Amino acid sequence: MSDIEIRPVTAEEWPDYLRAEHIPFGIQISDEEMKVQSQRYGAWNTLAAFEDGRIVATAGDWDMRLTLPGFTEVHAPGVTAVGVLPTHRRRGLLTALMRRQLDEYRGRGEAVATLLAAESVIYGRFGYGWATAHMAAEIDTAHARFVGRLEPGAGLELIDKNEAAKVLPQIFDETRRNQVGEVSRPGGWWTEFLRDPEWARDGDSELFHVVCRDGAAAGYASYRIKQHWDGALASSTARVIHLVATDAPTRARLWRYCLDVDLMARVSFENLPLDDPMRWMLRDPRRLRATIVADWLWVRPVDVARALEARRYRVAGRLVLEVVDAFLPENEGRYELDAGPDGAHCRRTNAAPDLRLSVAELGSAYLGGVSLASLAAAGRVEECTAGALGRADLMFGSDIPPWCSTDF
Ligand SMILES: CC(C)(COP(=O)(O)OP(=O)(O)OC[C@H]1O[C@@H](n2cnc3c(N)ncnc32)[C@H](O)[C@@H]1OP(=O)(O)O)[C@@H](O)C(=O)NCCC(=O)NCCS
Repeated sequence: MSDIEIRPVTAEEWPDYLRAEHIPFGIQISDEEMKVQSQRYGAWNTLAAFEDGRIVATAGDWDMRLTLPGFTEVHAPGVTAVGVLPTHRRRGLLTALMRRQLDEYRGRGEAVATLLAAESVIYGRFGYGWATAHMAAEIDTAHARFVGRLEPGAGLELIDKNEAAKVLPQIFDETRRNQVGEVSRPGGWWTEFLRDPEWARDGDSELFHVVCRDGAAAGYASYRIKQHWDGALASSTARVIHLVATDAPTRARLWRYCLDVDLMARVSFENLPLDDPMRWMLRDPRRLRATIVADWLWVRPVDVARALEARRYRVAGRLVLEVVDAFLPENEGRYELDAGPDGAHCRRTNAAPDLRLSVAELGSAYLGGVSLASLAAAGRVEECTAGALGRADLMFGSDIPPWCSTDF
């Protein structure tokens, strides 16, 4: 490891960085695609590990904001582009990149960092905890009636790419401010999503974008069609990539729209909240079959006290947390959290702890979607004062279950 240099890449090194970033995922960027990708320098912050002047491992982060319980928000780097060349795996390069990133985040006063994990076994050791879940699900349109009658009605509009570039980011930004666990999407994220290159379509149609507006309420769905005819019978699938809305009635109308697109035998949803209220609108809810239920957003408290003060708490209370942080020992110690719906104070203390947990478990519980009692039952949190788990879950729980719809 001694002859490895870790630093951000220059504009000239950006194509090499992109190549090195894709190889660990089994992707070789074509010359044509590289022409487009080379224009994206600066979309996110980079880090690369160089050996003899050659990039052998990559990492980076998006400048993002994370919505927290109580609808406060915090700047939270969204770690991305992590990869190590197959020739250099298991030599500690990822560990070195994580060390560099977290030291920098800590140094500049970040409260938390986030990421999506290619495999759930990778990031726990670096103090990231699984904080939100997602569900992919599908339903046959023949069984997709709602309990009551709902017409999507007026206010729906299909818009093209250019219009979508203006409208979708605005609507999304409104929805993410009211969705605990959602992150902001930088401009570079939108450009790539809306570009919608053919190789990303898996043989399906280009994206369709439908917008639903009713006064101040708004939402949109972006979906593709997988064409299929079973002999003379129309049997296509609508693949809903994103569906977000500022309120439940708009969400319901967008669902209804997607379920009613003509010639579809099936509608699949890539990323739904586990408790999506739409399940309860279906007349035959079991027909919505989950095809994936898995982790999505991982959260890493970089500065425990700042992180705990950034959010709000469902009920007022006081807790002493003993936090173990093997990877960032400056975080380790006992913290007294005095918090409620209006704000939080967190300071170091020598008082006896109510709960003992590692920083990754604190990351899991941070958005209110993972109960500390469950983590304790799994042997991951220790209750030192009787009743503390119940109190902590009351405080940490979120009225709105956390959910993140952004792939980054
Ligand atoms: C995941 C990846 C980045 C790990 O990089 P690496 O440089 O080999 O990791 P390190 O050598 O620093 O490993 C640190 C520890 O994590 C473990 N580890 C790392 N990746 C692991 C994995 N995918 N599965 C199981 N254990 C893993 C290592 O065994 C090592 O454990 P040890 O300290 O007990 O020996 C690399 O394998 C890779 O590029 N994979 C393909 C792309 C990918 O999944 N990227 C992540 C995107 S979110």
